[in-house]
Amino acid sequence: MTKVEVPGKIILFGEHAVVYGRPAIAVPVQQVRCSVEISDLDDAPHGHIYLEAPDIHLFAWLHEINEAHPLHKITQLTLDELHITSFPALKLTIGSTIPIAAGLGSGAAVSVGVARALSTHLGAPLPLERQSALAFEVDKIHHGTPSGVDNSVVTYGQPLYFIRDRFAERFTIGAPFTLVIADTGHPSSTASAVSGVRSRWEADRSSFEAIFDTIGQITDQAKTAIERGEVDKLGTLMDHNQRLLEGIGVSSPDLERLIHTARQRGANGAKLSGAGMGGNMIALASPERAADVAHSLEQAGASRTIITEVRS
Ligand code: MEV
Repeated sequence: MTKVEVPGKIILFGEHAVVYGRPAIAVPVQQVRCSVEISDLDDAPHGHIYLEAPDIHLFAWLHEINEAHPLHKITQLTLDELHITSFPALKLTIGSTIPIAAGLGSGAAVSVGVARALSTHLGAPLPLERQSALAFEVDKIHHGTPSGVDNSVVTYGQPLYFIRDRFAERFTIGAPFTLVIADTGHPSSTASAVSGVRSRWEADRSSFEAIFDTIGQITDQAKTAIERGEVDKLGTLMDHNQRLLEGIGVSSPDLERLIHTARQRGANGAKLSGAGMGGNMIALASPERAADVAHSLEQAGASRTIITEVRS
């Protein structure tokens, strides 16, 4: 039996602008995870794969599932990459505590989990960069123009400074800091958030490019502050990033209610995280205030909160 676990993620700075070549900072969230378990099936024909994903009510043989389904896609891509055609029948069980369509990287984590578990089980573990690349291929089918930040951060499981098509660089966290993550409880599709930004960008390229430039500068300032352990500078940068995300139309009343609540309860800054339009927000809070901020966010309607410490 082979079992792997892959963390979720949050984007600290730079979502959406990262699709347009500006930098983003993303960190893994170890409290939520996707797990993939693989075992041999003795009583089924060679080369058959049975997929079990109770969270999405999927129980089927691979060949019965639509080829465009992300689980079909990542399984097939992994087998093609390995050039393995003969193997015993297998059962893949996929479970996840990462909420779906919430900005926490659930799709990317499932793809990386399958690529990692399957290649390991078949005796040819893929290097991390290939696991990430295969997950990126799956993301492309489902949201057209992904930047690659999601698959990178969940694959490496490390804080990353990321620029599309250039690099995913691990960087030092000078001093740990605490974030409260709160879920609006409203799933949102990354594909439609990204394509909404695309149409607004097409209608007014110069304003959007200027906003993306400012988001890029905020991200760079945040990177320097994080490396130097100047946590007190991050809250203002988060607030500024949030205003710009509102400007490109990816915030929502639910997100803004939670962001406002967090600030009122003493968070040092707050913003949406990920594609927006629903999903999760993050608030920077001192370790002493974090539980109180989380409690207030739940009272204000958050369906779930997570307190996480960001460290190297
Ligand atoms: C989604 O987690 C982050 C976006 O920037 C899209 C992407 O980078 O592919 C909204």
